[in-house]
Amino acid sequence: MFDLSGRTALVTGAGQNVGAGIATALAARGATVAVNDIDAARALETAERITSDGGSAVALPFDVTDGPAVAAAVGSLGPVDILVNNAGNGGAQRLTVKPFRDMAAGEWDQAIAVNLYGVLHCCHAVVNGMCERSWGRIITISSGAGTGGVNIGVSHYSAGKGGGLAFTRTLALEVARHGVTANSLALGLLATPDPQVTASIARAIPVGRTGTPLDVAAACVWLASQEASWVTGQTIQLNGGSITT
Ligand SMILES: NC(=O)c1ccc[n+]([C@@H]2O[C@H](COP(=O)([O-])OP(=O)(O)OC[C@H]3O[C@@H](n4cnc5c(N)ncnc54)[C@H](O)[C@@H]3O)[C@@H](O)[C@H]2O)c1
Repeated sequence: MFDLSGRTALVTGAGQNVGAGIATALAARGATVAVNDIDAARALETAERITSDGGSAVALPFDVTDGPAVAAAVGSLGPVDILVNNAGNGGAQRLTVKPFRDMAAGEWDQAIAVNLYGVLHCCHAVVNGMCERSWGRIITISSGAGTGGVNIGVSHYSAGKGGGLAFTRTLALEVARHGVTANSLALGLLATPDPQVTASIARAIPVGRTGTPLDVAAACVWLASQEASWVTGQTIQLNGGSITT
């Protein structure tokens, strides 16, 4: 089950954390993985680690917000069977966190660019080829912020993540008759670099712990597999049982 041999996967933002975990897990199941990141050194590091562990991977750095760059990179790669839209900028260090009332016009641009436009550009670059070959898997990594708007101060991130999963749901309907599935994973909070913050987040999660890249990677392996061909248009809450709307 869940054999991905012969498949080519593109994982965006795979230079570290969740994306690196997803790329590693797909490669362990036999996929050849294109490791994307805007940070070329990070992409190369993940690709080299996968290769040294016996998997098949290439680094494919580009900025998912740059449509022509996405198209050129995907064109150079050849047919993509599995796309994981993981690149995001949810980390507090990259997002302005403040109430929407205090935001100036434009302060939301980057959140929308990465979390929504990045998904559109990458899907656009691969979806016709998937439909022509009658097989494809699209997985969009979203957030509880996209389904429930759970955090005050990140309305722009919620808009981007919510847009990404709404788009993915509609795309699923459009391509369902072509052997292509499209699903989203709405993640709850994962561990942060600060153990005290992580522990306090974990206390509010029903299973008693924050998520890990492996939790996300396991769901991606399943959704990417032949066995998940009847699963499409779904947004799966991956959050340790937290209540969502
Ligand atoms: N960590 C969490 O608690 C959490 C919770 C909910 C959702 N998410 C989502 O999960 C995904 C992964 O999160 P993470 O914690 O691993 O993030 P991270 O910030 O650790 O890693 C994201 C990677 O994406 C890359 N990236 C950023 N912008 C890019 C761009 N324009 N083009 C290409 N690559 C780009 C970064 O360089 C980085 O390597 C993101 O989409 C995030 O929004 C994370």
